[in-house]
Amino acid sequence: MELLEIEEILFDQETIEKKVAELATRIAHDYVGKDLILISILKGAITFTADLMRRIPYPITLDFVRASSYGMGSERLREIRITKDIEMDIKGRHVLLVDCIIDSGETMDCLLKRYEERNPASLNAVVLLDKRSRRIVDVPLAYRGFEIPDKFVVGYGIDCAEQYRNLPYIAALRHAPGQ
Ligand code: IMP
Ligand code: MG
Repeated sequence: MELLEIEEILFDQETIEKKVAELATRIAHDYVGKDLILISILKGAITFTADLMRRIPYPITLDFVRASSYGMGSERLREIRITKDIEMDIKGRHVLLVDCIIDSGETMDCLLKRYEERNPASLNAVVLLDKRSRRIVDVPLAYRGFEIPDKFVVGYGIDCAEQYRNLPYIAALRHAPGQ
């Protein structure tokens, strides 16, 4: 892990913690008395999910999905492939998809469509970071942490070529991958 590649820290631990607590409070309030299942999008969302779920003060369930994308995703849409699907039945349950970062929106769009077909009682999404200026597909986000500029970020679960996920803060890299 090359820390010299870090340009600036965008959100430190304390700032992230406050935002996660704020989101968790809203979510806990909105789903009280409901059968809530969090679907965490591997691998990036693990840190966010772990912090978020520990702030929900009643029983919930947790599952994971892993999506990989192919293609460049500028004009033509990328192909999203599910390499590991959830294991639980979500029919009639309240589903909240959890991701660390949304960029073009294609991954979240694909997952929302996929799980809508399984007839959940409700289906929403929470993301910690939103690169809104990069959006190609309009995706409804019920909960959103921070809007960020078009920079390549790492840390708090988010990687660059599988590195940096363990950083406790979120930082922008000096060079985006491939530059
Ligand atoms: P989308 O389908 O374009 O919205 O892409 C979402 C996925 O792209 C995220 O779940 C991340 O895996 C990855 N991604 C997007 N922006 C970044 C970034 O700045 N750093 C690391 N991964 C990113
Ligand atoms: Mg990645």
